[in-house]
Amino acid sequence: MEKREKLYEGKAKILYATDDPNLIIQYFKDDATAFNAEKKGTIINKGIMNNRTSEIIFNFLENHGVPTHFVKKLNDREMLCKKVQIIPVEVITRNIVAGSLAKRLGSEEGVPLAKPVVEHCYKSDALGDPFINIYHIDAMGWATREQMATIDELSLKINALLVNYYRDINIKLVDMKLEFGVHKGQIILADEMCPDTSRLWDATTNEKMDKDRFRRDLGKIEESYAEVVRRIESRGNK
Ligand code: TYD
Repeated sequence: MEKREKLYEGKAKILYATDDPNLIIQYFKDDATAFNAEKKGTIINKGIMNNRTSEIIFNFLENHGVPTHFVKKLNDREMLCKKVQIIPVEVITRNIVAGSLAKRLGSEEGVPLAKPVVEHCYKSDALGDPFINIYHIDAMGWATREQMATIDELSLKINALLVNYYRDINIKLVDMKLEFGVHKGQIILADEMCPDTSRLWDATTNEKMDKDRFRRDLGKIEESYAEVVRRIESRGNK
């Protein structure tokens, strides 16, 4: 397998083609952005830690019947993935009120939700990922009703699996963002699974162990990401 040209560079990752048209390489950078890239910075070794976290979580999900784009880790910062056509819908699953939901509901952060909540945003940096619903997705042709039914069902399954996974390592999964793509006609989980795209709170202290430490200037960012890696490595992918 040979690395070929750069296909796309995003805020946290770079995608490269390979000599196999069905496979791409995903490279994890240390760059961090927040508030629609208004705030920019670097989290030292974030790329290495997010590559490792994503590897273990994708393997865990595959072991529990969730199809993902993950093929294998190549090195510290790169993983080999199935090439997908990304569906431009960000799916957010929530278990505890935080972030934008706290503002929208006028609720305190930290209030548990009686049931998991699924939300959809249009994946567009230029528009700031606006909140949308199934009618917009259908009317704009971003995904069919059937595809969205599969995506929501997979999202709730992934959320339930990961709530339990993180509970085992004394972490509360507050919320997370998922992206899906189509590979050979099948909907599969894509993107990354890490503290950039999830809210993870220590279950004993409620201390934040995710990108909110960067967003809100809480300090100990690298240390928190490293602690998530340490706990995930101890839990493994079974
Ligand atoms: P949300 O509370 O909607 O937004 P914000 O982070 O602005 O308060 O975020 C819910 C979860 O989804 C949170 O873990 C961050 C993640 N997320 C992303 O990774 N990328 C995004 O573009 C959005 C909107 C959320």
